[in-house]
Amino acid sequence: MPLNAPLILNRWSPRSFSPVDIDPQDLLAFLDAGRWAPSAYNSQPWRFIYARHNTPEWDRFLSWLIPFNRSWAENASAIVFVASRTITISSRTGEPSPLRTHAFDTGAASILVQLQASQAGWAVHPISGFDHDLAHAALVIGKQASAENLSEELRKREQPSSRASLNELAFEGRFNASEKSED
Ligand SMILES: Cc1cc2nc3c(=O)[nH]c(=O)nc-3n(C[C@H](O)[C@H](O)[C@H](O)COP(=O)(O)O)c2cc1C
Repeated sequence: MPLNAPLILNRWSPRSFSPVDIDPQDLLAFLDAGRWAPSAYNSQPWRFIYARHNTPEWDRFLSWLIPFNRSWAENASAIVFVASRTITISSRTGEPSPLRTHAFDTGAASILVQLQASQAGWAVHPISGFDHDLAHAALVIGKQASAENLSEELRKREQPSSRASLNELAFEGRFNASEKSED
């Protein structure tokens, strides 16, 4: 059966945004979706730290982005830094057991936020190009605008990206390293 979930198929990461304000309740509804992600031992290792356009924190958050990302994210409506860390739980034997899957869990939470925002008519562009120890990734959320608003170089990139084919990514029974790999 072919992939047919519009929410997945229609999501992509644009850079052209209209500088509109986002209602904090709308933003919190997107982050609430992340709360429902599965995580190892239900540890929920993600944290969302956000700033909204036209609030006192906005310029500070924007300033942490590398200049390339700042150039288009300045018209977005919210920046959400996504933080996570290894959580240590007590194993059944009482030994401390670090959960190594926090990035996996937090990625799951992050995509739920993106899909919920998408469903509500907002666009989300994940980024890692910023300079701050608080987090390794962030979500730039905004109302998508016409590609015409972008520089010529960015205009060309304002479209869904291609993907590797499934047979390069999925293997039954045994992993077949791609011919390109040196390993
Ligand atoms: C963790 C992560 C970091 C990314 N960092 C940046 C970034 O710093 N700047 C940027 O313009 N796009 C960034 N992207 C967007 C990717 O380039 C984009 O998701 C990818 O090309 C697939 O395109 P699509 O999301 O439109 O399907 C990032 C995406 C992810 C998931």
